[in-house]
Amino acid sequence: MPLSIIRNDITKMKVDAIVNAANPSLLGGGGVDGAIHRAAGPGLLRECRTLGGCRTGQAVITGGYKLHCKYIIHTVGPVWQGGEHGEKELLASCYRNSLQLAFEHSCESIAFPLISSGVYGYPKASALNVAVSTIGEFLADHDMSVHIVIFDKSSYEIGSKLYSDIAAYIDDRYADENAVPRSFSITRAAEAAPTPLRFQKASKAKQKLHADECSMPAPIISNQASLADALKQIDESFSEMLLRKIDEKGMTDAECYKKANIDRKLFSKIRSDRLYKPSKPTAIAFAIALELSLPETEDMLKKAGFALSHSNKFDIIIEYFISIGNYNIYEINEALFAFDQSLLGV
Ligand code: AR6
Repeated sequence: MPLSIIRNDITKMKVDAIVNAANPSLLGGGGVDGAIHRAAGPGLLRECRTLGGCRTGQAVITGGYKLHCKYIIHTVGPVWQGGEHGEKELLASCYRNSLQLAFEHSCESIAFPLISSGVYGYPKASALNVAVSTIGEFLADHDMSVHIVIFDKSSYEIGSKLYSDIAAYIDDRYADENAVPRSFSITRAAEAAPTPLRFQKASKAKQKLHADECSMPAPIISNQASLADALKQIDESFSEMLLRKIDEKGMTDAECYKKANIDRKLFSKIRSDRLYKPSKPTAIAFAIALELSLPETEDMLKKAGFALSHSNKFDIIIEYFISIGNYNIYEINEALFAFDQSLLGV
């Protein structure tokens, strides 16, 4: 099951377990710890008093009290001391131990704050990176729905080099798009969306614009016989193409849906319904999992009625990652999140 990064207050999360960024005493504090104790009520502190504390990198579990969760997992992140004191390994072990505890308590869903990234001073971009990669490793052989909950805006800035590379890539592509004459854009849009179905989806105003510019009537299906003929020619569907590509790549289904950050149940639905119509982020998630080239990705998207364009950041970010051969869905999602876009999979 997938990993998502969302903006929220962790005390509002409806999941089986939420994780608290605690201190070794487990007796409460500021930041997310204070918020969790306030929302859970005094019963939580009473239970915490019985636990005898917790060492850095370790995790302990309590009840959820007044929160919308069954459990609270308390973990103690490292204090940032410049990065040369085992901070990264200790932070990773907070995530691993918390996930292990959740797994042992049969949790299907869990929400983490960005541990150590507040009072303990761990740089937020690196803290997010450790979170994403450690959770990603766990999800490779466990089924769980994991949320990283970001509270404040500055926490989700990704590494500045990656951010500026993507920003530059987006700027270039937007500029390219603006440079083409309008009539050319319209032609390209029409080429990218030639089927009657997509044409029907366009707004009336756009249909009129298209018809006026091209001096051609909108395509219509003239009679019943030609409709029946056309329907017979439906070629390989999205789901058929997906299953064929999984075989061609020598992947198992599970390898593919995990790499796509897609829920197993959703994958089963797609597998059993040859005409399943995925959302665009889902279709792209599979293209990423299959490590398709840009033209292959376009092909796969077309099967689901979509195309990549330069008129939105989401598409350009996807294009950027494919063009540099980075098919790590978690890194792509970190970038999409940083640019306020929908995430892949989930
Ligand atoms: N929901 C989600 N995230 C939050 C919330 C919230 N309600 N409130 C804060 N954050 P911190 P640490 C984010 O300081 O760095 C405590 O006093 C916050 O923006 O809570 O591990 C403990 O008792 C930041 O990104 O935890 C310890 O003494 C992240 O949670 C010490 O702080 C972690 O910030 C632990 O420090």
